[in-house]
Amino acid sequence: MCGIIGYAGEREAAPILLGGLRRLEYRGYDSAGLVVARDGKLCITKAAGYISNLSEAVHGGADLPGTVGLGHTRWATHGKPNETNAHPHISDGGKIAVVHNGTIENYTRLRDFLVSKGYEFFTQTDTEVAVNLIAYFYAESGDVLHAVASAARRMEGQYALGIICEDAPDTIIATKRDAPLFIAVGERENFIVSDVTAVLEHTRTIIRLRDYEIAVLTKDGVTLVTSELDEFTRETETVGWDVSSAEKGGFEHFMIKEITEQPDCVRAALSPRLRDGGIYLDGLGISDEYLRSVERIYITACGTASYVGLVAKYVVEKLARVPTEVVYASEFRYSDPIITDRTLVITLSQSGTTADTIAALREAKRRGAKVLSIVNVVGSVIAEESDWTLYTYAGPEICVASTKAYSTQLALSYVVALKLAQVRGTIEPERFSELLRVLATLPDAIAATLPLREQIQYLASRYASRDNMFFIGRNVDYALAVEGSHKLKEVSYIHSEAFAAGELKHGTIALIEDGTPVVTVAAYSPLLDKTLSNAAEVKSRGARVLAVTTESLREKVESNRDAVDDCIAIPDFEELFLPSLAIIPLQMFAYYCALERGTEIDKPRNLAKSVTVE
Ligand code: F6R
Repeated sequence: MCGIIGYAGEREAAPILLGGLRRLEYRGYDSAGLVVARDGKLCITKAAGYISNLSEAVHGGADLPGTVGLGHTRWATHGKPNETNAHPHISDGGKIAVVHNGTIENYTRLRDFLVSKGYEFFTQTDTEVAVNLIAYFYAESGDVLHAVASAARRMEGQYALGIICEDAPDTIIATKRDAPLFIAVGERENFIVSDVTAVLEHTRTIIRLRDYEIAVLTKDGVTLVTSELDEFTRETETVGWDVSSAEKGGFEHFMIKEITEQPDCVRAALSPRLRDGGIYLDGLGISDEYLRSVERIYITACGTASYVGLVAKYVVEKLARVPTEVVYASEFRYSDPIITDRTLVITLSQSGTTADTIAALREAKRRGAKVLSIVNVVGSVIAEESDWTLYTYAGPEICVASTKAYSTQLALSYVVALKLAQVRGTIEPERFSELLRVLATLPDAIAATLPLREQIQYLASRYASRDNMFFIGRNVDYALAVEGSHKLKEVSYIHSEAFAAGELKHGTIALIEDGTPVVTVAAYSPLLDKTLSNAAEVKSRGARVLAVTTESLREKVESNRDAVDDCIAIPDFEELFLPSLAIIPLQMFAYYCALERGTEIDKPRNLAKSVTVE
């Protein structure tokens, strides 16, 4: 995810900004840049790639003298990762520079407006729209604070902004909405930071900026104003973390940090797609006529991404009634897939660089299919080579084991399924609207599962010592069981396998011994009784059964002592989207089992984050 640091003080800004950016490197980025105010001018240097490239370009900061400036690490969301699209962005005319984290959802509309007012654009970013919008209001009012407030009122989406104006070169202005931004207070120096890690070596005194508030910083002080420009004060706080835990936002591992980030990530993935009671596939160019013509869908991906596909298959088939097959990308091109120009191939990938998924995509296109991809890394090979790409905007996933990529890919799979159903007329308009309304509340519903953490940690401590575990479920619960099992083995090194619940007795039941844990996903209510009877089959042979179910099914599940020993209940939600909630306890269970066993959770042995070989 992008990183921001701003400095207004008495020391040279550039070396401090470079140091702060290095502290933010762990978050992942593809380019970086600095702006420093000097002699009434804004001097900008940007570089693609590592901070070291930027540092070399400015000779460690020596080439950018000045005591007020902004720094940024960019992780591409709009436009390719290159020097042009790197921040800071400068307004047409050069008066104002901005660094920005987040995405401005109405940027196309705002850009059209600014173009109509004569503004020129030189990058592919939404940030250039923000800086020109501020410049537009500045030209009108001659007051940069007013201009920032006016621009902020018109921007939709998420943003944390650091702003510097040529005419007020000793001042930084900052504002935010749904993206973190802190003010850090030092001795005759003040900072803005998107992540406190960047300033801990200078100060531990911070002020939390809340949505729509604006901060005005000089070396001498910080003024806080509301969006209506009314001044107010706020107590400072002292940060107690050390740098390494600050990187993880106070969490012990990136995995649990990323698990808890999922509500925000899913919101970031969905909100650009759900607009005005409809589905908005902005700029994709995928025609309704094409979607109507699709006769068959292949979903192809690797590992966790392919297990998203298993859930997506149920949802697409249920809503859109298109036959859908999920094939591992490593098998796809060797399986002689039956492809016509009416075949849609969907690839899912966090990194966008997984060799097998790239090969599957190319094979699909070679055979005449259209490819729609759901990808996290902007500008990656898969994103670039697909006919259409939906970005998940989950931010960099640092833990090797995928969690937030899973949730965001799944959320966008619902969007694709609903769009297909709508254009193909396989869903009643009322049901479509209802599902869209519910889908918009999915981030909050996921957030409501997070308090299960304590219970899951306790349960994990009781199961983690076993060397073998099984996961079972039926229908979408089976798809979830597969991912739950995958997550467990990769981070805890406990051997684990997942089965369709009805399959156990056809062989695997021979492995059940006294105390063998069997995690039973039992959230899908139409098949609850059948799943419970499969759980009873293993329990009667000695298994210890941990069930994952919903609040409304809890009583029935818990009271069935012949089938269940322990029970985790997620909040009730629309059945179709329930997998997005049910996956959270499974991810947490894997995490806490791993914690119990003391494994290398964020970087499990033998695994790589991006698998670029076949
Ligand atoms: C598991 C995991 C892997 C990836 C797989 C695909 O937690 O992270 O199974 O899901 O290697 O990677 P991407 O999504 O980058 O194509």
